[in-house]
Amino acid sequence: MASTCSPTSALVAAAETAAVYPRVRWMGSKYRLLPHLAQTFAEIGGSTALDAFSGSGVVGYLLKKQGFEVHSNDYLGFPGVVVKAAIVNNSSRLSPRDVNQILSPSADGRSWIRATYEGRFFAPDDLDFLDSAWSHIDAMTGHKRSLAIAALCLSAARKQPRGVFTISGDLRHYDDGRRDLRIPMRQHFVERVAEYNAAVFRGPKATVSALEVSEVPSRPWDIVYLDPPYAPPRDDNDYTKRFHFLEGLSRYWIGDDLMWETKTRKLPKRVTPFSTKRTIVEAFRDLFKQFGDSTIVLSYGSNALPDLETLVALLHEVKMDVDVRSIPHTYTYGTHARAERRAVDEYIIVAR
Ligand SMILES: C[S@@+](CC[C@H](N)C(=O)[O-])C[C@H]1O[C@@H](n2cnc3c(N)ncnc32)[C@H](O)[C@@H]1O
Repeated sequence: MASTCSPTSALVAAAETAAVYPRVRWMGSKYRLLPHLAQTFAEIGGSTALDAFSGSGVVGYLLKKQGFEVHSNDYLGFPGVVVKAAIVNNSSRLSPRDVNQILSPSADGRSWIRATYEGRFFAPDDLDFLDSAWSHIDAMTGHKRSLAIAALCLSAARKQPRGVFTISGDLRHYDDGRRDLRIPMRQHFVERVAEYNAAVFRGPKATVSALEVSEVPSRPWDIVYLDPPYAPPRDDNDYTKRFHFLEGLSRYWIGDDLMWETKTRKLPKRVTPFSTKRTIVEAFRDLFKQFGDSTIVLSYGSNALPDLETLVALLHEVKMDVDVRSIPHTYTYGTHARAERRAVDEYIIVAR
């Protein structure tokens, strides 16, 4: 199917993905590039694809829509849960009965989330709901369990101002009247379940892993999509720091070693060669070597390190043909009246 996917059907797949894939504000997510990616994937063709840094999972979902057998990988657990719910899962949905069960009073009276995060994130009632929902989810298995956890995590993500868990305590000044910040977590859950249920569709086989990228099998894939964490000029690219609450919630913090002394009770950072400016160039060299037998599609934003020239040179070490496509766009940043607009180029680099 994928090898015959026309440019028009690629655009349809992109539009359907944008319309139904439950949206999470994941740093660097590629929702707005879906039409460009879809056309690139269609043009390359084939039947197998790897989304090696899956994040929100939206690109893997697009690939499945385009008829590829997709494998999604991300070293964090939360992205794996959403991939299981919305991509690996071909047909399971949560029924009204399942939802009512999860909304019913706690099965075991647990209160770890409230005891740990009260005064840091969310209202006490919302924390109680997360605990009690988990008391029921614990008894669930298979895709229904993944759907329930994905919907619970998305509820927490939508209810958190700015969607990141680096800010905590009294966050009233972030309240811009948005409905997402006002509705109770339980209501979010009901709505987010409906979103995930609507996203489920039958398609080619899909699989998932939660590995550091260097451990992902390099078996030739028709397409290897790489959207790694680049180093921004200032700040860092640490996903755990921003999304630790979702990561912990995706497994009820089982086996996690919390940093109790921190204000946000976060999880420890995972250091990889992509984490520091000192090691990131070597990390990219190794990454391209690892997938040198596949057609690589690389996403890159012009305000990040390594720079474009370096990336192209590294790709040329393993590939003959490197084609750089630039997608100009503008984004707004800053939350006040003086928010600046600044042009940033996004690139899709195809290396064969
Ligand atoms: C730019 S985001 C991917 C965004 C994704 N394409 C989307 O559209 O939502 C990069 C992802 O890489 C993951 N990641 C970072 N370092 C990794 C590593 N060494 N191995 C595997 N995954 C990693 C992060 O958890 C993050 O989800």
